Amino acid sequence: MPSSSVLTLRRPDDWHLHLRDDAMLRRVLPASAARFGRAIIMPNLRPPLTSVADARAYRARIVAALPVGSRFQPLMTCYATDATCPNEVERGWTEGVFAAVKLYPANATTNSDHGVTDIVRLNPLMERLQALGMPLLVHGEVTSATVDIFDREAVFIERVLAPLLAGFPRLKVVFEHVTTQEAVAFVRGHAAEGRLGATITAHHLLINRNALFAGGLRPHAYCLPVAKRERHRLALVDAATSGEAPFFLGTDSAPHPVAAKESACGCAGIFTAPAGIELYAEVFERAGALDKLEAFASFNGPAFYGLTPNDDTITLHRRPWIMPELVEGVVPFRAGEDITWTLTDTTAGTLQ
Ligand code: NCD
Ligand code: ZN
Repeated sequence: MPSSSVLTLRRPDDWHLHLRDDAMLRRVLPASAARFGRAIIMPNLRPPLTSVADARAYRARIVAALPVGSRFQPLMTCYATDATCPNEVERGWTEGVFAAVKLYPANATTNSDHGVTDIVRLNPLMERLQALGMPLLVHGEVTSATVDIFDREAVFIERVLAPLLAGFPRLKVVFEHVTTQEAVAFVRGHAAEGRLGATITAHHLLINRNALFAGGLRPHAYCLPVAKRERHRLALVDAATSGEAPFFLGTDSAPHPVAAKESACGCAGIFTAPAGIELYAEVFERAGALDKLEAFASFNGPAFYGLTPNDDTITLHRRPWIMPELVEGVVPFRAGEDITWTLTDTTAGTLQ
């Protein structure tokens, strides 16, 4: 596949994406649609998407906002609350509207105040998801004020995720945006079962927690889960570039208007969509593992979700460009800095 300056790969998918709504949706969607064939769309709108009707209407707004000729497919998720009804979830699944259920522990991150207060309350929902083979996507952080913010993912594994997997031995779970060595080891420990996947963002592969404090407080490097120590970043790079089946691409691109980030209480979220695949190419190249990029970006995700890979390709050239300071009113990741790879071509593929 890759020579040193041209990289053609099966079109990738983004298994974790925030598109927002209305004007912001129209502004940020083209960047993702140019690169990815499909994306799992996060449901944390205000109010969150909790019903089949909500998700159907949101999907229609996304499709209406697509550039002409785009074949990008939004895969919708249902936001789990304490009140989520298993019948509604099953209906969304069988009608082809919901691809998964998203679980946010209450108040774990942006727009998660309707999230789940105690996962045990959702046992009937878990039973149903397990029976359907429908994936549960978890934001893996505990929210207790007494647990240090840098430890919240590791504690979540012990307190929530391990018991959940033990209690529901066939439940399919995606451990979203993993950020720690502990998470990587845990996912690998379950690899043989084939029912625990993990998404990894580009920014967690590229920055450690020093980025938050580089010469001053850096709100644009703030996201949740927050970036961790260098040894954790190295564990993530090792996992992503291994090509191992449980690990796949999820940008967690999460745009916020500049004023919402540059604030006394700045929102969590990093906007990577304008270089959504290019940033990963950089990581894989640096690790000497460009030959594993396609597994991570284009094959492992569909295999986990039981879908076929996209039938077309994208091509990147090793030609640096400078990320603008502002993209559609949002400060993107790497603003004003070099991006090594340029997206030069996409093939149309054959319509299915
Ligand atoms: C996301 C957002 O802004 O919606 N923010 C983030 O830091 N990742 C929410 C999330 O996925 O946690
Ligand atoms: Zn997210």
